[in-house]
Amino acid sequence: MSAVLKPEPRFEPMGEEDLPAIVGVEQEIYEFPWTLVNFRDSLRSGYSCWLVREGSALIGYAVLMLAGGEGHLLNLSIAPQAQGRGHGRRLLGSLIEVARERGTRILFLEVRPSNGAGQHLYTSHGFAQIGVRRGYYPARHGREDALVLALDL
Ligand SMILES: CC(C)(COP(=O)(O)OP(=O)(O)OC[C@H]1O[C@@H](n2cnc3c(N)ncnc32)[C@H](O)[C@@H]1OP(=O)(O)O)[C@@H](O)C(=O)NCCC(=O)NCCS
Repeated sequence: MSAVLKPEPRFEPMGEEDLPAIVGVEQEIYEFPWTLVNFRDSLRSGYSCWLVREGSALIGYAVLMLAGGEGHLLNLSIAPQAQGRGHGRRLLGSLIEVARERGTRILFLEVRPSNGAGQHLYTSHGFAQIGVRRGYYPARHGREDALVLALDL
């Protein structure tokens, strides 16, 4: 019997050449996806933008805004076919390390109340809810609130 070895996932900086593939995944995952321009503006603004590859396949990506000792996790996504295999957990761990190395003291993020998987991932890393932003997200019928979570680093 032959074993099929999966390559180790690699955590790498995002570049503009990666954006078409990222936007393809983004459109598969979200009803209200970020556009290529949103990602390009993040890169050009100097945000901390990362991706995860397994071999040549893009399996995840994240955008983190770091400034003045505060961080804001703006996007964290794992491709549908790669979800549920620990990649989200590892990617979040790597981002927390990056934030710490850059002297970040507190990390914020927003998550939809309807996103149970996201909330579970964040709270199990120590994030705690600190507030609610009313009508923050577009939704199929009107708007959806955002839960604001924070992690002291
Ligand atoms: C949320 C997301 C980043 C998690 O990444 P992932 O690689 O699928 O998750 P992992 O395999 O690392 O698992 C992380 C935890 O979430 C749980 N989880 C994963 N998918 C889940 C699901 N569909 N429902 C409930 N829990 C789920 C896992 O059980 C695991 O918890 P455990 O370690 O206590 O068992 C990923 O599913 C995703 O990209 N979803 C769509 C985009 C999104 O919601 N991003 C976050 C926006 S704020």
